[in-house]
Amino acid sequence: MDQGKSAPDAGDCPTGMELTPFNPEFRECPYRVLERLRQTEPVHRDRQFDRVVLTRRADIEAVLADRSLVADPRKSRPGSFVRMAQIVDETYEPMMLNTDDPEHKRMRSLVAQGFNLRAAEAMRPRIAAVAGELLDALEGRAGFNLIEEFAGPLPTIVIAEMLGVDPAEQKDFKRWSDALVNCLNPRRSPEQNAALLWSREHLGAFFRRIIAERRERRGTDLISALVAAEENGEVLTEREIINTANLLLAAGNVTTTDLLGNVALALLRHPEQMAKLRAQPELARNAIEEVLRYDPPVISTLRIAPAAREIGGVTVEAGQTIDFVILGAGHDPAVHPDPERFDIERVDTTHSAFGGGAHYCLGAPLARAEAQVAIPLLLARFPRLRLDPDRPVQHKVAPPFNGPKELWVRTD
Ligand code: HEM
Repeated sequence: MDQGKSAPDAGDCPTGMELTPFNPEFRECPYRVLERLRQTEPVHRDRQFDRVVLTRRADIEAVLADRSLVADPRKSRPGSFVRMAQIVDETYEPMMLNTDDPEHKRMRSLVAQGFNLRAAEAMRPRIAAVAGELLDALEGRAGFNLIEEFAGPLPTIVIAEMLGVDPAEQKDFKRWSDALVNCLNPRRSPEQNAALLWSREHLGAFFRRIIAERRERRGTDLISALVAAEENGEVLTEREIINTANLLLAAGNVTTTDLLGNVALALLRHPEQMAKLRAQPELARNAIEEVLRYDPPVISTLRIAPAAREIGGVTVEAGQTIDFVILGAGHDPAVHPDPERFDIERVDTTHSAFGGGAHYCLGAPLARAEAQVAIPLLLARFPRLRLDPDRPVQHKVAPPFNGPKELWVRTD
């Protein structure tokens, strides 16, 4: 998606289409498609994936907060979007993101004991140190791929350290987690599917070994905390610890890389905004929130209706998926005047980038801390940072994730 394009008007994009970058029309003009849907069919029926799609912020907020909805794909109807994406084979066991109470409550409260705002804030000095090392390695280079050399490694190193993974193993770790996130993509290719199964197997073996080590020798890392919780009250099984570690790894890596990439891209495409941020680094917090609204790293999230219900006059049947278009919420003109304008001083940056309700993103404080620390350091290090005119920005095609695949910059 070229989010740097000037604001499109609600023109002639057809509706009833797939709201993913696989659809060239959505890729070309997502805002126009979303605006058309908001105006004509705010509760859109997508027969291809047996789901309804919400694009208005008010609907999204209200329905996301509804705790009677469920998230386990096994409760959805055959042929649904979530079932096609996630149920990889017969050994499927959901991660926390796809569990329901009482399992979800039990797992979430345990993980949140060690993984919370305080833990994220405590990581700020370490985030600054890691970002500094990555920038040191780029010193003197006239150009580089910002994703490969900065936005990619930073979150991997941070979450690996929090989980207590040996730095020597971090490269494998990154490869596996990149393959793993395709479990949310219903249109993954046979190659992506094979890589997903392969990485799931390797990560399982990898975490099983770490869990065994932590049973022998407890550390201060998150896996040690989860092992302690398991041993004390048998509240987390080994499989649950592995699934949770996988989730933290996958959710923490790709999304935060995309956030850093989307922030950098928005600033590079709006040099006047970048100049403002350089002059007033205290605007960084608001600038990050504005990117979360304007170009969110996760385009949509979903729930399943356990029983038939009505949303906005449309009947949602039991087992049908409800898809919340996060990108649509952030660009709803009913909430955000002139939504396609990127403005780091925007007063109301409310967004749904981290979802909501029972499954609201546990990693939001960490993602925010990483971006708030890393982006000002990047700008300070390279006063002439600009897009490389000879290498066009390439976007990933890996729904629901949204970020640059490659982002080549010049520093001279
Ligand atoms: C900018 C970066 C990030 C974005 C945009 C993001 C977005 C999301 C979204 C949309 C959800 C689903 C929420 C829902 O359905 O209501 C979610 C859930 C989750 N995220 Fe994030 N996330 C980010 C970073 C992280 C990080 C850094 C971690 C941890 C290392 C993390 C861990 C989780 C977990 C564990 C859940 C599941 C929570 C639950 O089911 O209770 N996320 N995230």
